[in-house]
Amino acid sequence: MKQILGISVFLITGLLLSFYIGFHLNHKEQQMAFDDDQSGIQKQIVIKFSHVVAENTPKGLAAQKFADLVEQKSDHRVKVEVFPNGSLYTDKEELDALKSGKVQMIAPATSKLGGVSSKWQVLDLPFAFPTESAINEGLNGDIGKSLLASLEQQNIKGLGFWVNGLKQITNKDHAIIKPNDFKDEKFRIMSSVVLKKQFELLDGQSKPIDFNETYRNLESGNVTGEENTISNIYSKKYYRVQDYMTISNHGFLGYAILMNEDYWHSLPLKVRVLIQNSINETVQWNQDHYRTMNKEQLRLIKKESNIQIHELTPYEKQKWIEKLNPMYKQYEPIAGRKLISDIRHLQRKYERQSFR
Ligand code: LMR
Repeated sequence: MKQILGISVFLITGLLLSFYIGFHLNHKEQQMAFDDDQSGIQKQIVIKFSHVVAENTPKGLAAQKFADLVEQKSDHRVKVEVFPNGSLYTDKEELDALKSGKVQMIAPATSKLGGVSSKWQVLDLPFAFPTESAINEGLNGDIGKSLLASLEQQNIKGLGFWVNGLKQITNKDHAIIKPNDFKDEKFRIMSSVVLKKQFELLDGQSKPIDFNETYRNLESGNVTGEENTISNIYSKKYYRVQDYMTISNHGFLGYAILMNEDYWHSLPLKVRVLIQNSINETVQWNQDHYRTMNKEQLRLIKKESNIQIHELTPYEKQKWIEKLNPMYKQYEPIAGRKLISDIRHLQRKYERQSFR
C-alpha cells in the first residue's frame, strides 16, 4: 500500500512539474515573439528623444505618440524616452548632441538646419507654401527627399517630417499690417540667415534667441515681437506679454525627425523597420491634427486674453509678398536652382486656394 502511495505521489508531482514547465516556456515564448528571428535583442533598447517645445503641441504630441507606438509594437523591447521643453538639450545644443551621439533623436525646426546644409534655407523663404496641400506635397515629394538626403554626410539619418503650421506675427506697440509697420521693431528669430534677411527687407531688426528664452526676452522688452505658430504662441504664453497679433501665415514651421546615423545602423533591421513604420504613422497623424490644434489654441488665446488680432486681407498680404519677393532670386545660388524652382512650381499650383 505504502509503495502504491509513493508511486502515486511521484506521478502527480511529475505531472504538476511538467504542466508548470510547459506553461512557463509557452509564456516566455510569447514574450520573446518580437525577437524570435535571431535578431537577438537581449536587453531593452532605450532611445533618448530631445525636443524644445511643450507637450501639448503638434511636435510634443507626435513625439509622445511615436514613443507609445514603438513601445507597443516592440512589446516593450524598445523604449523611447521623450524629453520636452528643452529639458535635456536646448535649441543651440541639440544638433551637436545628436551628431556626437549624446542623444539619439531630435526633431528641430527645419529653420535650424541651414548650418548643416544651406539647402534647408528654402523652407524659410517667405510665403514658401501657399496651402496645406502644398506643404504635404513639398515635404513628401522631391523637396523633402532632397533635404533629408543632404543630412547624410553629417552622420544624421532623416526619418521624415512633422508640421506645426504657418507663422504669425506678435508684437508690443502697434498693429503690424503694412510692410513698413515693421520699421523700428526688434523681432526674436530662430537662428536662420533667411529669417534675418526677411526682417531686414521689412526695415525691422532681429535677434536670434533660443526658443525657451523667448518669453523672458519679450517680457523684459529686449525684443518687441516675434514670429511663430499659434500653437507655440499659446503653449509658451507669448500672447500674455504681447499686445498685437497679425494672422499673416507668412512663413512655414515644421520639423525634420532625425536620428544619429551610426546609432541607426547599429540597430537590428527589425527595429529600424519598426521605427520607420512608427514614424510614418505619426507623420500621417500629425497631418490630420496640426491645423485643428492651431485653430483650437487661437480660440483659447482669444478667450484668455485681450490681445488685438488682425487677419491680413488678400490685398494686404499681396503687399507683403511683393516686398519679400526679391529673396527668391537672392537665395537661388544658396539653396540651389532646382529647389527654388520646385517651390515656385508648388506656389503656382496651389496659389488659388487660400490658407485659413
Ligand atoms: C522656435 O524656435 O520658435 C521653434 O523652432 C520652436 C519649435 O521647435 O517649434
